[in-house]
Amino acid sequence: MIQALRIGIAGLGTVGSAVLRLFDEKAKTLALRCGRPLKIVAVSAKNLKRKRGIAINSYKWYDDPLKLASSEEIDVFVELMGGEQGIAYLSVERALKTGHHVVTANKALLAHQGIALAKLAESKGLLLNFEAAVAGGIPIIKLLRESFSSNRISRVYSILNGTCNYILTRMRDQGLSFEQCLKEAQNLGYAEADPTLDIEGNDTAHKLALLTSLAFGTVIMLDDIYIKGIRNISLEDIRAADELGYRIKLLGVTIKSDTGIEQRVQPTMVPTSSMIAQVNGVTNAIAIESDLIGKLFLSGAGAGGNPTASAILSDITDIAIFSQITAQNIPVFGRPTNILKPYKKSAISPNSTGYFIRCSVDDCTDLFSFIAQELAKNHISLKTIIQKSLSDNKSKPKQTILLITHQTSEFAIYKAFNTLMQNGTIVNKPQIIRIESPV
Ligand code: HSE
Repeated sequence: MIQALRIGIAGLGTVGSAVLRLFDEKAKTLALRCGRPLKIVAVSAKNLKRKRGIAINSYKWYDDPLKLASSEEIDVFVELMGGEQGIAYLSVERALKTGHHVVTANKALLAHQGIALAKLAESKGLLLNFEAAVAGGIPIIKLLRESFSSNRISRVYSILNGTCNYILTRMRDQGLSFEQCLKEAQNLGYAEADPTLDIEGNDTAHKLALLTSLAFGTVIMLDDIYIKGIRNISLEDIRAADELGYRIKLLGVTIKSDTGIEQRVQPTMVPTSSMIAQVNGVTNAIAIESDLIGKLFLSGAGAGGNPTASAILSDITDIAIFSQITAQNIPVFGRPTNILKPYKKSAISPNSTGYFIRCSVDDCTDLFSFIAQELAKNHISLKTIIQKSLSDNKSKPKQTILLITHQTSEFAIYKAFNTLMQNGTIVNKPQIIRIESPV
């Protein structure tokens, strides 16, 4: 009789609980697909007594995830605890050393330790699957790992954080405050335990680092990502973007050119007519540009229990199938680790699609000419200029100026606006947002 695949799960938060619930519902279907039974045999979490809405007493309980990771009673260790090091790293390492396949949703861990763990998995002939680590239910890891082998990818741009996209969408649609929208995202189980990882862009950066490695066949280089979060995006910016025909999205972009690779995470304006501008709420999206396929656009649920659990069950299913039929595993990052190329950072190129700038000046007609002169000195030309009076009945009225530039660099813009701030032409720190031209 074919042996059941025995699974141990460490971490029973939103995602872990969804895996247990869905596993109960789908165990028969999965067994038919895999040609063998699959069985969750043991679990581990911080708190045995926490209310999860599911019974866990039929599974063996481990207080210590490391003991579960080295247990001879399991074949697959599923790591859903999170965290870039500490117990998550130690238990995944322990599981691989013990000879267990691993499934993890832990993007932070892989962005920091992915290559070392891939080497360990490879040396043991084990699978280390991480579909749930990037873009929740969108099967982007398998797609990049297996389906682009003959393509040369030039650019990937993406919405990879459901929490941020949810916040930006709710602020725009309902006019709610940033704090209120973040609370909602937390209550819905989208945000990280530490939500600063979401809103400051690090979660997107972790995911982007993995996509870059898979897309370009290089080692992972998290430290090279330019990261800016959405914390300082105001309702005023969102409304101004609307007025000018754009939406603001937290994009993760990775580009390969002749000079190397450029990775950045930042709030970005995209034309309202583009597909990515229409991706709202917790939905994620990934666009891939390559020589043979051209443009490919995927969107789907990027966070939450069911979509993420779906990715985990798919990884477990692959292990149940592959571990029976082949001794040769698909490499963790699409290529054996010894042929992953070193990462080469590209020189930052000027942005051909320009920048949005919002700044305030005291209500004096001459001031705009100072701004125009300073921009010209830095070779920045303007495509759109909108000047608005803020008539708040105060003795000294202010004006808001909205600008869209032609091709220029972020460096030139910051240089010009630093001067304008220092000489008192503009009254507050300007808002500067990159514009991207997506499909
Ligand atoms: N906090 C993450 C997000 C969870 O909002 O996208 C899914 O990785």
